[in-house]
Amino acid sequence: MWLEVILWLICGLIVVWALLDPISRVASAAWEILVPIVNSKPVDLRSEFGDWAVVTGSTDGIGKAYANELASRNINLILISRTLEKLEATKKEILQINPNIQVKIIVADFSKGKESLCNIETELKDFPIGILVNNVGKQYEYPMYLGEVPENELWDIINVNVGATTLMTRLVINGMKNRGKGAVVNISSGSELQPLPLMTVYAATKVYVGSFSEALRAEYSKFGLTIQHLTPLFVNTKMNAFSQRLQVSTIFVPNAATYAKNAISTLGKVNTSTGYWAHGIQNFFTLIPPVWIRMKIGQIMNQILRNDYFKEKKQ
Ligand SMILES: NC(=O)c1ccc[n+]([C@@H]2O[C@H](COP(=O)([O-])OP(=O)(O)OC[C@H]3O[C@@H](n4cnc5c(N)ncnc54)[C@H](OP(=O)(O)O)[C@@H]3O)[C@@H](O)[C@H]2O)c1
Ligand SMILES: *[C@@H]1O[C@H](CO)[C@@H](O)[C@H](O)[C@H]1NC(C)=O
Ligand SMILES: *[C@@H]1O[C@H](CO)[C@@H](O)[C@H](O)[C@H]1NC(C)=O
Repeated sequence: MWLEVILWLICGLIVVWALLDPISRVASAAWEILVPIVNSKPVDLRSEFGDWAVVTGSTDGIGKAYANELASRNINLILISRTLEKLEATKKEILQINPNIQVKIIVADFSKGKESLCNIETELKDFPIGILVNNVGKQYEYPMYLGEVPENELWDIINVNVGATTLMTRLVINGMKNRGKGAVVNISSGSELQPLPLMTVYAATKVYVGSFSEALRAEYSKFGLTIQHLTPLFVNTKMNAFSQRLQVSTIFVPNAATYAKNAISTLGKVNTSTGYWAHGIQNFFTLIPPVWIRMKIGQIMNQILRNDYFKEKKQ
């Protein structure tokens, strides 16, 4: 009789153990949706993290919208991207939103690898960076088989998505640690949640970003730093120009401004988030089935987007 009880207990424990991971994944997806409701008090970013923020890839899409939001919260900005004219135009727009902040621009091409950081390092030396937004990211031109992606493009994707995020973080983290405050926001992607055929390398680089963020948090949270890891699903930006379907803003494909406004209000409140409530709901349902089913769904979705691209190209 006792033997039976013990056996059942062991079986029960094994089942709980096996389910722990999916349950905690789904629970944290649910928590992410609840946080803004439970804790609606805005965080004063400037006193919490510092006066200056760096945003990489800040002349378009999510990065630019995020910079606008930081500006309206009175944070001084350092904008980094490849094109001087776009940087100057963005600076002008931001100063119209808030003429009381300082805005500095730096031209750098992260696809050039480590050399691109030398200039940034000198330029950043005298600025106490409170917030780093690792936003810059590169995607395929459209969903492709690995053998179809030009070699250079693959190398650029790895340099930009993996290299730039790593070295930019390395550049500011010691200063933050010494000041005992700061935030690193890593913009990853929902495509890290399962392998993603036809966007294989993009999704794999985002897994790196996710793993990096989570481990970095374990290293640095004891020094008072916040490491936030954002996993947006589709946002209507030029990154998704391959499909008209993704170039119309809907509740599930928000424009960059809506996305950034929601995402910034989660900073300091939740460590890992899609950053946007409707993506949170999508994410909650996405995380219920096992990885192999999600991968299959991802593959079908990308095949549809690929067909869209060829259809639109023909017209
Ligand atoms: N859009 C989505 O659906 C979506 C979904 C999930 C995650 N994300 C992630 O969100 C981030 C932003 O995406 P987005 O859609 O906003 O992109 P985007 O609209 O294509 O903007 C990219 C920005 O990065 C700059 N940039 C591009 N290549 C660069 C390089 N080699 N060196 C320096 N700067 C460079 C661009 O400016 P210049 O051309 O002037 O350099 C531009 O400001 C990415 O990490 C992406 O993976 C996007
Ligand atoms: C963000 O991701 C990059 C690359 O994965 C990593 O180097 C960096 O430390 C991460 N930063 C944070 C704050 O998670
Ligand atoms: C984020 O994670 C760190 C380290 O695990 C923890 O100390 C901190 O309370 C978390 N922050 C939030 C807002 O959950």
